[in-house]
Amino acid sequence: MKHFVYFSRNAATSGKALSGNLMKAGRMDIAIHSLIQGIFLSHSFRKDVKFHFIFYGMPDPPKHIEIKVEDETEISKKDVATLIKKILYKYKKEQKTEVLPGCFIEKRSFLKVIEELSKENSIFVLDKKGKDIREAKIPKNCVFILGDQDGLPKKELKRLKSISAPVSIGPQTYFASQTVAIVNNELDRRNI
Ligand SMILES: C[S@@+](CC[C@H](N)C(=O)[O-])C[C@H]1O[C@@H](n2cnc3c(N)ncnc32)[C@H](O)[C@@H]1O
Repeated sequence: MKHFVYFSRNAATSGKALSGNLMKAGRMDIAIHSLIQGIFLSHSFRKDVKFHFIFYGMPDPPKHIEIKVEDETEISKKDVATLIKKILYKYKKEQKTEVLPGCFIEKRSFLKVIEELSKENSIFVLDKKGKDIREAKIPKNCVFILGDQDGLPKKELKRLKSISAPVSIGPQTYFASQTVAIVNNELDRRNI
């Protein structure tokens, strides 16, 4: 399984907070574009990708949302905002809730999510200053961590240093969604 973990310090953490302007809900538009690049293909889905959102915005951080397309998942590229809103609305205290097939929500910190994933996966942090991804050895079970427009949390990344490797996809600073598309393409070319 391939995983993307998208971190956002300001993305809204309740369904109500997500109503209205997506740009004002902690740039939920960027989160949506990244998810689309993560799990959609032209006329099909990437069923071997699990996409994680870690949202630290108001009013109830942190929230961990997991989305993996299953045969029964009803999901449209045109309405990802409604999907995320629905998942946030269905959050229940102290539970990991499956809102739709393959779509879960729970209260979990960034560090806890990554530490859990690191038990069965190699962890890569998307970082312009990292090692060129084209030279990185990437196994089938892999996790790619990326930030929103404000980047990744430095303090938490420091704590993950011993279990992660920084990889770069090129010399420019790309949109979060572009990094997901480029990583997926690199993995496709390697048949990972
Ligand atoms: C728009 S960038 C964030 C820019 C932000 N000002 C920063 O300093 O991190 C969004 C995310 O894309 C990833 N990213 C952008 N360019 C990259 C590159 N050349 N190589 C690897 N990851 C990149 C990083 O994870 C970053 O957090």
